[in-house]
Amino acid sequence: MWRFIYQCLKNVSAPSLVTLRPLPRSPFCGVPRSALANFAPTHLLMVEQKSVEILDLYGPPPEVRGMTCLDREAFGHTVKVPTLRIQKDVLHKAVKNLKRVALKRPGLKRVLEVAGDESHKLLLLDPASVSSPTSFSEAEKRTLGDLGVPLQIGHHELRITYENLKADEVLRAVLPEGQDVTSGFSRVGHIAHLNLREHQLPYRKLIGQVLIDKNSGVTCVVNKTNTIDSTFRNFQMEVLAGDGNMVTKVRENGVSYEFDFSQVYWNPRLSTEHERVVDLLRPGDVVLDVFAGVGPFAIPAARHGCSVLANDLNPESHRWLLHNCRLNKVDGKVRTFNMDGRAFIRGPLREALPSLLQGPAEVHVVMNLPALALEFLDAFHGLLDSDSEPELVARALPQVHCYGFSKQDDPRQDVVDRASASLGVRMEGRCSVHMVRNVAPNKEMMCISFHLPREVLFSNHSVDKDSPEEPSSKRQKCGEPTD
Ligand SMILES: C[S@@+](CC[C@H](N)C(=O)[O-])C[C@H]1O[C@@H](n2cnc3c(N)ncnc32)[C@H](O)[C@@H]1O
Repeated sequence: MWRFIYQCLKNVSAPSLVTLRPLPRSPFCGVPRSALANFAPTHLLMVEQKSVEILDLYGPPPEVRGMTCLDREAFGHTVKVPTLRIQKDVLHKAVKNLKRVALKRPGLKRVLEVAGDESHKLLLLDPASVSSPTSFSEAEKRTLGDLGVPLQIGHHELRITYENLKADEVLRAVLPEGQDVTSGFSRVGHIAHLNLREHQLPYRKLIGQVLIDKNSGVTCVVNKTNTIDSTFRNFQMEVLAGDGNMVTKVRENGVSYEFDFSQVYWNPRLSTEHERVVDLLRPGDVVLDVFAGVGPFAIPAARHGCSVLANDLNPESHRWLLHNCRLNKVDGKVRTFNMDGRAFIRGPLREALPSLLQGPAEVHVVMNLPALALEFLDAFHGLLDSDSEPELVARALPQVHCYGFSKQDDPRQDVVDRASASLGVRMEGRCSVHMVRNVAPNKEMMCISFHLPREVLFSNHSVDKDSPEEPSSKRQKCGEPTD
């Protein structure tokens, strides 16, 4: 690609340049400076539909490249910007009509006093838009003429400092040229959570500090140091900058949660999924959350009027789950447990089920542990006894929403096959599958929903092949998206 850009550049002569725009976000920003040696710095970089752009007009000095310990002073530099001298009494009107060409830069004033001249002010113009009086549009020229503002371009030496640069501009100037610069992060309350690549690691402390400086409300930056494979799905992380306080507060779908981010699982990318499942519930329903975390299904469900049994094996998750139930005043609606998911299904869930099935409420079982949950489905085998509780066999059975990752070409079929294997019953035609999100290239997070088959839930129950397993209104085909 660089060769292509370079060829384009070689074929463009400076006088033919049409538009001048700064290029900090352009995909070509990493062009090696050597490739541009033949071009005047105020001239373009990119040829795109006949428009030509300036490289790094406001870019920091090249000396900052490779900096690993943030020296804010080193980013200061001076650029020459065009100006218009405007009479004070028409300034407001003029600025209003020159928005297109006026300087726009965070933290920089674009109207300045003129020393020794009380009757005029200086409007700073964007050098990317204005290089001569011909840069103005006909409408702009007309307005200036009507206001009696002479079309004379002056120049002002403008001091750009670290404070006037955006995070990605700072990082792009520091990190190795031509390599990926990440200023993207997940925000969990006051914590910015990064997943840095190998080449970014030498700069990690600087990256952390820049993110704190440039994002109001972020006071701590952490980097993930392992993949999420611990039992409790929490990350190991290194504090890169800031106060190191891991106890944070977030709001999701109007509900507040507090937790220690270093001890529990929290993923801001699941908010839509939490909302989708809670939207399936009706007030009075019962929710059995097998892997509840700090409560993002359980608490909104309780606020929606459901009764909830919520379980998590991680004692810290359990502690924050309890805390969040109190925080959201639903502790009367949620019973919490701290045990293994399989023990929860075969213990508290099994004990609650007979009386729940006799009532009018729908029962939903939520199983969000995508790496393993499908394998837990065998715990439902023979949970109830059709001989001792024959009246339950005819009741509407619990609806399960079980999550799984898939790296297969057909992730829908994959989760149906794995759920079938775990339940010991073919689930085609008896479930719906929802694609939750793309987790990584080639890795999807899926949710399979189905009513527990009678022959699974009841020991010694044989299926009458002609009778439907569930009311037809609730039947959905596998592979049918629910979103
Ligand atoms: C992916 S998180 C989901 C948490 C929450 N439901 C959510 O949507 O954010 C899975 C949770 O399962 C818990 N967990 C892991 N293994 C478990 C097990 N064997 N039994 C019960 N909980 C378990 C973890 O501590 C974690 O909180």
